[in-house]
Amino acid sequence: MRLLLTTSRGIEDIARAEVSALLDKLGVSFRVEERPLGVEGRVLAEVGEAFYTDEKGRKRELSVSTYLNERSRLLHRVIVEIASERFKGIEGDEPDLALRRIEEFVSELPVERYVKVSEPFAVRSFRKGEHKITSLDISKTVRKAIFERLSRFGSPKVNLDHPAVIFRAELIGDVFFLGIDTTGDSSLHKRPWRVYDHPAHLKASIANALIELAEPDGGSFIDPFCGSGTIPIELALKGYTGEIIGLEKFRKHLRGAEMNALAAGVRDRIEFLLGDATRLSEYVKRVDFVVSNLPYGLKIGRKSAIPGLYMDFFGELAKVLEKRGVFITTEKRAIERAIEENGFEIVHHRLIGHGGLMVHLYIIT
Ligand SMILES: C[S@@+](CC[C@H](N)C(=O)[O-])C[C@H]1O[C@@H](n2cnc3c(N)ncnc32)[C@H](O)[C@@H]1O
Repeated sequence: MRLLLTTSRGIEDIARAEVSALLDKLGVSFRVEERPLGVEGRVLAEVGEAFYTDEKGRKRELSVSTYLNERSRLLHRVIVEIASERFKGIEGDEPDLALRRIEEFVSELPVERYVKVSEPFAVRSFRKGEHKITSLDISKTVRKAIFERLSRFGSPKVNLDHPAVIFRAELIGDVFFLGIDTTGDSSLHKRPWRVYDHPAHLKASIANALIELAEPDGGSFIDPFCGSGTIPIELALKGYTGEIIGLEKFRKHLRGAEMNALAAGVRDRIEFLLGDATRLSEYVKRVDFVVSNLPYGLKIGRKSAIPGLYMDFFGELAKVLEKRGVFITTEKRAIERAIEENGFEIVHHRLIGHGGLMVHLYIIT
């Protein structure tokens, strides 16, 4: 079975490592590839059959897609791949031609092997690139092709609101994927614990990628701009045993973070502090790890305040940080100046896709 796994752009290597570790535990044969056909934000896993022994000692097949949906902290979707194809030049094609190419391709695929014909289905699409067609066009075309194909085997039904089976069609540049979306309509990064919605919250998948890059070893950990608490909560949910602190300047967000932590069942694992990160050393005398997505300015209103805020914060951080820091921001110049002028060293930099933007990630020591 081939599973097409989706995540944020720029963290495919970390998702691949997570998926490999999870599959290792199953003792199943597998191969995991980052960015199949060069597509960002995608990981492909080819997995052999997995089994478990039930309570009566019988050997039963284990659903690897269910297992990944339940265990992964970095994936957004788990899609059982039906086919992948490169449609050369489709971005320049007129709408009729582009849709005809997709329809002809899908109508030849043995979709009946993946679903019961009687199960109501829907097609959800995702499109990225410079095409002359929309994702709605793709949904309709793929739906028609699947419906006609399944009609050879019975009486298929479409149910757009409450489908039993969701086909996912993706056209990213000139690459087309079709699969069965085992995750459902709500992406895995939308965590059930999020009862307070911060306007600039971090995707939980990215929070986990930042945590992985920080490699916390049980020492003390702080997010000094914690907003709704995504990073500390996800760390606590991983079973981290060290001290976890979330600092936030605005009471409303801090209360929201506490509510989220309560909903996640980890309220007693995190110390939430109301305070100003530019006075960090007043709250903590030393800390081993710091991970944060910094205020960008767009959401807090005054972009001109950012260089000063970063300079003051990193000045304070220099007094307390013992081991490693991981940060993301859109403000490359401001953060690099603040890091360097306060005696830190950038040991890694990469770009990550977050909310339609590419943001800069830094690891510092
Ligand atoms: C990008 S948001 C963090 C979002 C958070 N990671 C989440 O998932 O909800 C930045 C946060 O920093 C807070 N903030 C801004 N200036 C601050 C300061 N001087 N000290 C502490 N927090 C501050 C903002 O109120 C905002 O909640």
